[in-house]
Amino acid sequence: MVIPLAERYRDRLPFTDATPVVSLGEGSTPLLPAPRLSRRLGVELWLKWEAANPTGSFKDRGMTVAVSKAVEEGAQAIVCASTGNTASSAAAYAARAGIPAVILQPKGAVASAKLAQTRMYGARILELRGTFDEALEAARELAAVGTHSLVNSLNPHRREGQKTAVFEIVDELGGAPDAVYLPYGGGGNTTAYGQAFLELDGRPSRLVAAEAIDRAGTLASAIRISEPVHAASVQEALERTGGHVVTLSDDEILAAWHDLAASEGLFCELCSAAGLAALAKEPPEPGATVVCVITGHGLKDPESAGWLAPPPVVVDPDPEAIAEAAS
Ligand code: F0G
Repeated sequence: MVIPLAERYRDRLPFTDATPVVSLGEGSTPLLPAPRLSRRLGVELWLKWEAANPTGSFKDRGMTVAVSKAVEEGAQAIVCASTGNTASSAAAYAARAGIPAVILQPKGAVASAKLAQTRMYGARILELRGTFDEALEAARELAAVGTHSLVNSLNPHRREGQKTAVFEIVDELGGAPDAVYLPYGGGGNTTAYGQAFLELDGRPSRLVAAEAIDRAGTLASAIRISEPVHAASVQEALERTGGHVVTLSDDEILAAWHDLAASEGLFCELCSAAGLAALAKEPPEPGATVVCVITGHGLKDPESAGWLAPPPVVVDPDPEAIAEAAS
């Protein structure tokens, strides 16, 4: 049985006896060795498979805390802006809590399966004729009216929950790895990881934040965010841990994405390969212990597979034709 975050890390989270914990069994995700990529890159590489969370992304770690606290504080509804994953997660936890969720998302810029999830969970989805940054502004304005509780990562409870990924990594490796690489969109997750290391004793891991060079137009739609709202706290976390930002082209992210699937058997969504792309582009010292955080599942964005993977071969039910096509 999966132990919910609220139980596993209760002493490090803002839960009280009065908090009605809203959980879908998030956290405790696999930390997988990556033998082929380790050999090729000359490091000891581990992959934190956050796609194993209930809605298929790391967002659930923060959402269990944010929605639980919202319900404790008497919220009647929640709201968020999203490129898709926060939306699915917010909608799922709202359904679990029995309260409505309003989603603001940029029209035409959300991967199909994320939208399917969010619709099935019953959220009210508003497609904005505008960018993610404008959607976030609109969500903040709606929350300011007082009717809806904001569950974007500006909500500190979200970051509290997301920091638990670091606790799991450090617990499992028996100490902090030399470096942790993760995708950098708005920067809430990098900020949360920085917070986690502040709370742990000992040397922190260098945090490496992997961002798209073309923030406004990257193919990696989950991190298509022009203005990272947490830029200042990301900078602070990187300085404190001795880390840095790596800026990536879409081709570099695509290559890492393909590698994760074909070399290690992990099909993630495109943006989730950004950490690995940063590692390949700016490798650390040989032999370093490194974790790449794989933030979301590839099944959330099935159309993208068509960009790199060959289509199936069509055959007749004829043994000779099949043998020929199979080789
Ligand atoms: N990985 C995935 C799969 C994401 O969905 C996101 C952000 C990130 C990484 C970047 O995290 O913003 O904390 O730096 N997704 C948000 C959303 C924007 O709406 O789902 P960040």
